[in-house]
Amino acid sequence: MSIKQQREVQIRSDNDIVATRRTVRAVAQSLGFGITDVTRIVTATSELARNVVLYAGSGVMRWRELGMSGRVGVELTLEDNGPGIADIEQVMQEGYTTSGGLGLGLPGTKRLMDEFEIASEIGKGTRITVRKWRR
Ligand SMILES: Nc1ncnc2c1ncn2[C@@H]1O[C@H](COP(=O)(O)OP(=O)(O)O)[C@@H](O)[C@H]1O
Ligand SMILES: [Mg+2]
Repeated sequence: MSIKQQREVQIRSDNDIVATRRTVRAVAQSLGFGITDVTRIVTATSELARNVVLYAGSGVMRWRELGMSGRVGVELTLEDNGPGIADIEQVMQEGYTTSGGLGLGLPGTKRLMDEFEIASEIGKGTRITVRKWRR
């Protein structure tokens, strides 16, 4: 697999979460992120992919390399056409869950990454974009 070609991973099942993790790990390593940041990026993406399967059923993960004014980074976008999120402030609170989970996925992801953006519309879906910059 050439990671330069695979810029999109369809997410429909737990197996696809594994594929998403594998892709993101390869991308982050190839961009020169250190082992700790690679783990952070993989963990964050994994949580978002899990949410896609759990709450939306299916979706897609896209990634791209960022290069801005000498900085190198990675951007990951998780998008689904699921039920959407009514109250974004609420779901960003630690411990808030509608599935009996831990409610740490979204706040944890925000903490692990440098930038975090949510766009969601009820009945339309959710798009979460995260970025990490190489130190
Ligand atoms: N892609 C999504 N579509 C709809 N709702 C979502 C999505 N991702 C997260 N949520 C909502 O946000 C809540 C918090 O998510 P998270 O922090 O990952 O905790 P958990 O998955 O353990 O519940 C979820 O319980 C769910 O209600
Ligand atoms: Mg979760």
